Amino acid sequence: MAVVNGAFAPGSVWLVGAGPGDPGLLTLHAAQALAEADVVLHDALISPEILALARGRLESVGKRAGGRRTPQLRIQDRLIVLARQGLRVLRLKGGDPLLFGRGGEEAVALAAAGIAFRVVPGISAASGAAAAAGMPLTHRTLARSVAFATGHDADGRLPEDPDLAVLGCAVDTLVMFMPLRQAPAIAATLLAGGRDPATPAALISDATTPRQVVRRTTLAQLPAAAAAVPRAAPTLLVLGPTVTLADRIGPPAAADATSPGAATPVLRRFV
Ligand SMILES: C[S@@+](CC[C@H](N)C(=O)[O-])C[C@H]1O[C@@H](n2cnc3c(N)ncnc32)[C@H](O)[C@@H]1O
Repeated sequence: MAVVNGAFAPGSVWLVGAGPGDPGLLTLHAAQALAEADVVLHDALISPEILALARGRLESVGKRAGGRRTPQLRIQDRLIVLARQGLRVLRLKGGDPLLFGRGGEEAVALAAAGIAFRVVPGISAASGAAAAAGMPLTHRTLARSVAFATGHDADGRLPEDPDLAVLGCAVDTLVMFMPLRQAPAIAATLLAGGRDPATPAALISDATTPRQVVRRTTLAQLPAAAAAVPRAAPTLLVLGPTVTLADRIGPPAAADATSPGAATPVLRRFV
């Protein structure tokens, strides 16, 4: 029972994207849901500034790199139980709920249980990072295609499907979520597929927050650059020709920002 519009009714669940971290990037619908929800089940990556906007009770169901997480089925059961208690239940997810956010699984579970729900899209970390680091995902002459992929599956392995060697060479811009753990395998796969070792790349951590750090590198140097990133920092890999546009439209770069692991703290925020 998907609801497209309407009020946040008691006994319903809203699956809401919280955006990449900057509270200014919440949608108006997300802010409304935070103000009206009786209970908020949220991921670990949601910033304290955003959680502070919640009127209702907070329940954390997330994990941070390698820590314990609430099993997905238990989250889905909890959403159903709380909705059946007549509560307005907000499931708050980082970025967009339908992009590597398991929002699709939760929506299917709610539909099967006969619970009314609504999906409120959010600004993905990919869009937030691209804007805040000055790296357009597409560009009329430099990059006419973009792909989003994940760096590891539920078991921590680089997924075999899709074939990254094919995908990563077929598109101009490749964005990888959770790229750190498998950075050596990602680089080796893309190089084996024929991608140029000199392809510009960037690891963008904590995008859109005051903690944002951009590490510029190349495909060949990606494993070394990834090794320098703290594992707890949510990080995206952007690979492709538009990465170099950051020299003109991104935050000021550090003197040696092209060396592996060179970090550029954000000096200018895009809000
Ligand atoms: C489970 S995925 C969720 C993606 C989310 N649904 C979205 O649309 O952005 C979590 C991963 O997104 C990326 N991520 C989320 N927030 C980020 C941020 N502020 N800066 C950089 N990467 C971020 C990281 O790769 C993190 O490990």
